[in-house]
Amino acid sequence: MKLFWKQKKQKTEAVQVDDRLQHIAFIMDGNGRWAQRRGMPREFGHSHGAATFKKIGRYCESIGIKYMTVYAFSTENWKRPQKEVDTIMQIFDDYIEDCFAEMEDDNVRVHFIGNLSIFSDSLRQKMEKIERETVHKTFMLNVAVNYGGREEITHACNELIKQGKTDVTEADISSQIYTAGCPDPDLIVRTGGDLRTSNFLLWQSAYAEYYFTDVLWPDFSGKDVDEAVAAFYSRKRRYGGV
Ligand code: IPE
Ligand code: IPE
Ligand code: MG
Repeated sequence: MKLFWKQKKQKTEAVQVDDRLQHIAFIMDGNGRWAQRRGMPREFGHSHGAATFKKIGRYCESIGIKYMTVYAFSTENWKRPQKEVDTIMQIFDDYIEDCFAEMEDDNVRVHFIGNLSIFSDSLRQKMEKIERETVHKTFMLNVAVNYGGREEITHACNELIKQGKTDVTEADISSQIYTAGCPDPDLIVRTGGDLRTSNFLLWQSAYAEYYFTDVLWPDFSGKDVDEAVAAFYSRKRRYGGV
């Protein structure tokens, strides 16, 4: 596949990506500030953020992205006020119900990444059911909940210890991380203006390209994806070579 660009006035419009950009990941940040700027409680921002997530998923699929990973809730986000955590968990629950409702029409293979043992048995069973029933779809969506990069690597090491390994290779760790089987992200986009990883995909991001934008996640649009994609294609990935 070839990458086509339509240059119209100053606008750069990405029509399709090629195999150089298979996996895009998003740190969906800025929901709280988006709401507060409107004089609304932070929870209002999370509801809008959830709608943006669905819209951006559809957009990424339409431009030929094969894998998308979103950071929805970190292992550190439990520190937030209980009311906010409860709202996010309710949104997550609603999302799972929507997955069931929309499964037939969508081409989305859903996979949950993170330490899922914290969730109730019934919620975990629902997540596993969605994963099973969408396994044949071709647009892969990793939803990171109760996810932390350090937790993921520690968990991978413990799995290897359980297997009796006393000496581990990079390939062993790659085989036990939550995204095993998925190529590493080519591009990681963080919205909301902060310039940090906040414990996201620490292992997988070794050679990812980063793109940071001040746009707050609920405002993020297809046009913003296009800009991130254009930035990605302007970079030279050397992987340590020359
Ligand atoms: C990201 O938005 C969503 C989650 C972390 C769950 P925030 O809630 O962190 O929004 P800001 O960064 O406070 O604006
Ligand atoms: C990162 O955002 C986590 C998610 C987007 C889910 P945070 O808002 O939690 O990150 P910090 O606290 O600003 O580093
Ligand atoms: Mg934040």
